[in-house]
Amino acid sequence: MVLSLQRVALGIPDLKVGADFYTTFGMNMREGQDLLAFRCDNRPHDEIVLLETGQDRKFHHITFAIDEAGFNRVVAKLKDRNIERLPSPLADTGEGIWFHDPDGNLVNLVLGERVDVVAEQPASANHPGLRGRNNERGCPSRDMPARPRRLGHMILFTPNVPRQISFYVDVLDMKLSDTITDDYGAFLRTRGGSDHHVLGFLNSPAPGFHHASFEMGSIDETELGAQRLFGKGYRHAWGPGRHGVGSNYFHYFRDPWNGMAEYFFDIDFITDDCPWEAVDWTKKDGMFLWSADGPPPKDFGQNYEAV
Ligand SMILES: [Fe+2]
Repeated sequence: MVLSLQRVALGIPDLKVGADFYTTFGMNMREGQDLLAFRCDNRPHDEIVLLETGQDRKFHHITFAIDEAGFNRVVAKLKDRNIERLPSPLADTGEGIWFHDPDGNLVNLVLGERVDVVAEQPASANHPGLRGRNNERGCPSRDMPARPRRLGHMILFTPNVPRQISFYVDVLDMKLSDTITDDYGAFLRTRGGSDHHVLGFLNSPAPGFHHASFEMGSIDETELGAQRLFGKGYRHAWGPGRHGVGSNYFHYFRDPWNGMAEYFFDIDFITDDCPWEAVDWTKKDGMFLWSADGPPPKDFGQNYEAV
């Protein structure tokens, strides 16, 4: 089975610009051969890869970790569907198998393990009638670190949401968690216990990258991280708020190429044995319960890769 979303790769015009954005975002950088790779603290693999193309930003590939049985299953499925296995486009970190999904997105599968982050005790909090924190100040220090823990999910634009659902459910054996009405959106998880979604799709006239999202430890961390990005001139995109789909708190930021990076906190988790029933959400309820800046801005759903 597919175990996790491991890496998202983008082609961008200028690596230097990317280096500053993702390190300010809170990730650790290494320089590879013709690429920059970023990972959260204590993660054993790259989570964002940037390749300098000299051209406008464009989605490059997505990498999933998969177990051996799942790997063999996918290889058989690709053969059944006459989907060509492609050579690695990378001189660095190019292991595994490569193929195109129905939109022409490059997909990479690598044998691996599910690597969860180190468990953290939630901060104590006071609730009505339940005082979990006594005789102690609750406000953290302004110097509190705000570091993303892991890549959680990515969302791609697609001209055909049902076709993408069918492909990822059939070929990669993923599960559908929820949709947004009129085939506007779909959210998929892995088997074996998973965040509500590790991969999602939003309708657009063309394929393209919408956002990659990273888990934070609290709302405080999320917003301290936001302040750090704004302090360096990076642009707010939407939030903070709470999604209906996946239930997570969110804050989105524009990357330097009109893509987005998101901090999330408290996303729904679905165990393997749960008879979870997918809900077809309205656009409004699926997108948000509330957000400090109201409904998503007009350009939130704009696909900058569509020509
Ligand atoms: Fe997201």
